[in-house]
Amino acid sequence: MKSASADTLIDSFQQAGQGQVFRFWDQLDDSAKDALIEQASLIDLSEIDRLSNTLVLGQGHHGVDLTDLAPAPFIPLPKSGGDPAQWQAASAKGEEALKAGRVAAFTVAGGQGTRLGYDGPKGTYPVSPIRKATLFQVFAEKVLAARIRYGASIPWFLMTSNLNHEATEAFFKENDFFGLGADTVHFFKQGLMPAVDLEGKIILADKGEIAMSPDGHGGSLRALVRSGATTKMKEAGIDIISYFQVDNPLVKFLDPALIGFHIDAGSEMSSKMLPKAYSKEKVGHFCTQRGRTVVVEYSDMPDELTDQTNDNGELRYIAGSIAIHVLDRAFVEGMGGDNPDAALPFHRADKKVATVDANGEPFKPETPNGVKFEMFVFDALPFAKNPVIIETSRESDFAPVKNAEGLDSPQTCCEAQVAEFTAWANAAGAGIPVDEKGQPSFVFEITPKFADSEAAFIERWNSLDPKPEIKEGVILDA
Ligand code: UTP
Repeated sequence: MKSASADTLIDSFQQAGQGQVFRFWDQLDDSAKDALIEQASLIDLSEIDRLSNTLVLGQGHHGVDLTDLAPAPFIPLPKSGGDPAQWQAASAKGEEALKAGRVAAFTVAGGQGTRLGYDGPKGTYPVSPIRKATLFQVFAEKVLAARIRYGASIPWFLMTSNLNHEATEAFFKENDFFGLGADTVHFFKQGLMPAVDLEGKIILADKGEIAMSPDGHGGSLRALVRSGATTKMKEAGIDIISYFQVDNPLVKFLDPALIGFHIDAGSEMSSKMLPKAYSKEKVGHFCTQRGRTVVVEYSDMPDELTDQTNDNGELRYIAGSIAIHVLDRAFVEGMGGDNPDAALPFHRADKKVATVDANGEPFKPETPNGVKFEMFVFDALPFAKNPVIIETSRESDFAPVKNAEGLDSPQTCCEAQVAEFTAWANAAGAGIPVDEKGQPSFVFEITPKFADSEAAFIERWNSLDPKPEIKEGVILDA
């Protein structure tokens, strides 16, 4: 027997042309029926209808508006001609905010990590060169280092998804929250969206299960609000959110310079940019369009724009987005609320979605058979007042683990970490010989507890007498 509320829900799916979701209903046992009803009740049918009509069935759904595009301005690093005094002043202002406890760290860790092909939440991937510390451990140690430096109780928020929430929480518990204190680490789940087929019909993953997936890192704005995270922040006097991804152990989050420039400009969302290494590098492009800042994905940028150069031969669209942002809490509250005029758009991603055939037998497609809907956090930029973009350098901020091999793999990430540690040591006068890529002939590690920046390393190194020998396998810790 169906309950009245299950009846109503099934009716609403039928009326919306999505009755196929319940086509195996009669074959399900009671608990499977309950589970399907619970899943279905989370779906906003009018949203799916709108997205299917525009992004799946609509004409020209791949068209991204490229009119009036121009490169976005950014604040260059001192080494690229920026004003050192301006950077120093920004850092001082950011440090003040950190000391005053105005800033929270925030990691988006709800993704599926399919390219890496690792079994478990990506944050539990062992990434450091010698200790094989996990991504979560490296970030936790950076949070701890910042707490000590600024004498503030900086909390850490992590967004997970249904796919990895329990495993993520369990991992932190097993590791005693890496010494951060359980009550200072906050987990919350992001939203899910159903996948639809090429006719806009919601896909079943199994007879009694809808194919659902996380709603993209842009879902973090909704999830921060809906989970009560922004309320917690407000109560703790936090008005600045330091946003970063789970896959990049080099990331300088809680960066005083970015925070300082953000505050100075009265910005609602600020970002770091990286000069692209080559014209087709797979990063989003910071642009302006009719007075607003936008990020255009590499896949949407035509060659004639990516390849354009200035008179001096430099790429015109040089500013790559590496997903390091600072967001105003109140801005997130506005964007993540129910105001349809301040909502992130969804993007379409064509995927192979495992499903069932007409007989309910499992079916694994060879080619994309479905569409997933995702939001991207950088789409909040056009809504933000006074967005600021500052330059950073690859060596000190960006070495993501995306793929199992090749580009952006554990190996390139490990090399980048060792290169950064070596650069710090050599800045302090350690005199380690390196090749043309800045790589020494051996592998060693500096933990964030020892130093989390070049300046911190130099200070620490100078205080040591005698100095440790840096050689193969050495770990400079605590
Ligand atoms: P990616 O774009 O690398 O996606 O996410 P992914 O799902 O982790 O990996 P692939 O594409 O399946 O290989 C960039 C960041 O955004 C987070 C990820 O956890 C990562 O930190 N993310 C992505 C979410 O938190 N939720 C999502 O729905 C998608």
